[in-house]
Amino acid sequence: MKRVLYDLLSFIKSLYPNEDPIPLHAPRFQEKEKEYLADCIDSTYVSYVGPYVTKFEDSIRAYTGARHAIAMVNGTAAIQIALIAAGLQPGEEVITQALTFVATANGIKHADGEPVFIDVDKDTLGMSPVALSEFLSRNIEKRNDGCYNTKTGRKIFAVMPMHTFGLACRIKQIKAICEEWGLLLMEDAAESLGTFVEGIHTGNFGIASVLSFNGNKPVTTGGGGMILTNNDAIAEKARHISTTAKLKHQWEFFHDELGWNYRMPNVNAAIGFAQMERIDAIIKNKQETAQLYSEWGKKNGVQFIHEMPGTHSNYWLNAMVVTNRDEREEFLAYSNANGVQTRPIWVLMNKLPMYKNNFSGPLENSLWLEDRIVNVPSSVRICSDTPRAP
Ligand SMILES: Cc1ncc(COP(=O)(O)O)c(C=O)c1O
Repeated sequence: MKRVLYDLLSFIKSLYPNEDPIPLHAPRFQEKEKEYLADCIDSTYVSYVGPYVTKFEDSIRAYTGARHAIAMVNGTAAIQIALIAAGLQPGEEVITQALTFVATANGIKHADGEPVFIDVDKDTLGMSPVALSEFLSRNIEKRNDGCYNTKTGRKIFAVMPMHTFGLACRIKQIKAICEEWGLLLMEDAAESLGTFVEGIHTGNFGIASVLSFNGNKPVTTGGGGMILTNNDAIAEKARHISTTAKLKHQWEFFHDELGWNYRMPNVNAAIGFAQMERIDAIIKNKQETAQLYSEWGKKNGVQFIHEMPGTHSNYWLNAMVVTNRDEREEFLAYSNANGVQTRPIWVLMNKLPMYKNNFSGPLENSLWLEDRIVNVPSSVRICSDTPRAP
């Protein structure tokens, strides 16, 4: 292992002097969360009906600019509901990236779709427009009723890129390719609340998208997710089927189709609403941490993955590129044994037992990154000698 990687540990400890061990990403709570939670409990409205759900949804709409924001129990459920609400039929394929968190593929599968895995770009860690274009040219046949995968015979329903660790992928190019082929675009923006592309918040480029508010995300509700969409029909359908498909009536229980109980409870939304009141400070702190890592990296010859020009990243998790898999293993073992939580990027989806038979394209970049990407601690910093925490 390179000598400087031993020094990196001291640098990380200087960023988080009051934490031992230093977690990869810990949530930060303040008095507001406690105040809103107490208010929520006193009101007795703790389930999915309650004012904090609406307040939290409104705060996300205002921040992201999406016309609709529908709060869900988690991001995985949000992917499932968004796909079903957009019209996915059982067995249809959704093209996504092999290098992603398993929830992207699981959400597709739970909606009865079939994920197809393509390559990512080395600089964004997100779906590669070149790989998408090549995949479509090689494998897809346009018919009257849509695009079909000639190798599997299945219809392609949508393309689902993911903004890895809050770094925006080349979403505008991907959108243009989707338009050329007449394919729906749905972003998995679970990791990218606070990430913008030329001033537009991620999640606004396609027909719908999802966010996650898991405890490890920059803004958390404990557990939670959100569907964003500018499409009224999808929003209405998503709200309906995620609320047991109950028709509005003062006392009668009539459900007009199969539904889910997937709406976010009021208690969770209360926490999220408090966090959204200081989102700008949270993202600013995370941008500053990324800058500190980047400066350290430049001085010491270690590459950190950067936002692309024209994009503004939430820098959810800072990602470093090491030399090879051996170095990765050595650094992971050394840092985790010495009080600094680090982790490798995910095992590629096509290597997991439940997805090993799913169709995938060439994955050269994904394989390269799988061996080399390591995440380092990235929580909002709270300490006297670093910029004031939000
Ligand atoms: C890329 C990606 N997609 C989807 C999800 C699913 O979110 P959740 O954990 O809220 O189900 C997550 C996060 O955890 C994620 O990182």
